[in-house]
Amino acid sequence: MVQNDNHIPSAPTLDKVPQHVAVIMDGNGRWAKDQGEERLYGHRHGVEAVRGVVQTAAEAGVRYLTIYAFSTENWGRPAEEVDGIMSLIAQAILSELDTLTGAGIRMRFIGDLASLPASLQESIRIAEAAVIPAEKLRMTLNIALNYSSRWELTRAMQQIAVAVKDGSLRPEEITQETVSNHLATAGMPDPELLIRTSGELRLSNFLLWQLSYTELYFTDTLWPAFGRDQMLAALREYGRRKRRFGRL
Ligand code: FPP
Repeated sequence: MVQNDNHIPSAPTLDKVPQHVAVIMDGNGRWAKDQGEERLYGHRHGVEAVRGVVQTAAEAGVRYLTIYAFSTENWGRPAEEVDGIMSLIAQAILSELDTLTGAGIRMRFIGDLASLPASLQESIRIAEAAVIPAEKLRMTLNIALNYSSRWELTRAMQQIAVAVKDGSLRPEEITQETVSNHLATAGMPDPELLIRTSGELRLSNFLLWQLSYTELYFTDTLWPAFGRDQMLAALREYGRRKRRFGRL
């Protein structure tokens, strides 16, 4: 569990820590199948894995952790699984809120939130209302819900088009910064590290603009089995990467 205080219990020694880590949590269903269980059993253990990874990231000094909890494409799953995931997430947000707030971790939500079930929207509202004084803020946990990058970029283009149409922005004034400022991650640094579990080598419509220069880390480990040691291994691997941004 995340410690309910503001000191770092056992800060791992890492040379270089990414400010922002993005995670595609994949493999809950396969993990459950391997155990001879239903898919929702895997999602329940997936929530446990989130706890461990949040704690490890905060201890390591990561400032932003963005996790892909539900994509716009995930609505295509059977209704029973979708309903199960929605209520699991709604419960987890509320049950973790005090612990996270006490540890200086705030939750933020990115995605098309208005189409989520009312109970989940209510959990989101409560979580976003929690106040952490600036000097106690250790990490922001962004939870992507009903999110996709193409949805986000389309919305940004619509907002920018409105500004051009009403005369508050000239087309030649549109810069990369303008686009970034209209994304759900506005004001946050782009992720330096993306982790995807379960052996799939895809970005799946996640943070496509923001991942332009991000280091990619793929592991065969299924999400419910991705714990502290696996998170530290990913952070250590990041420390070994040479980032060149197209330069020599
Ligand atoms: C990935 O495995 C799981 C998801 C995309 C959705 C569920 C995520 C959680 C329950 C963790 C979120 C928790 C919080 C607190 C936000 P999969 O179903 O794609 O697995 P498979 O590829 O093996 O079928």
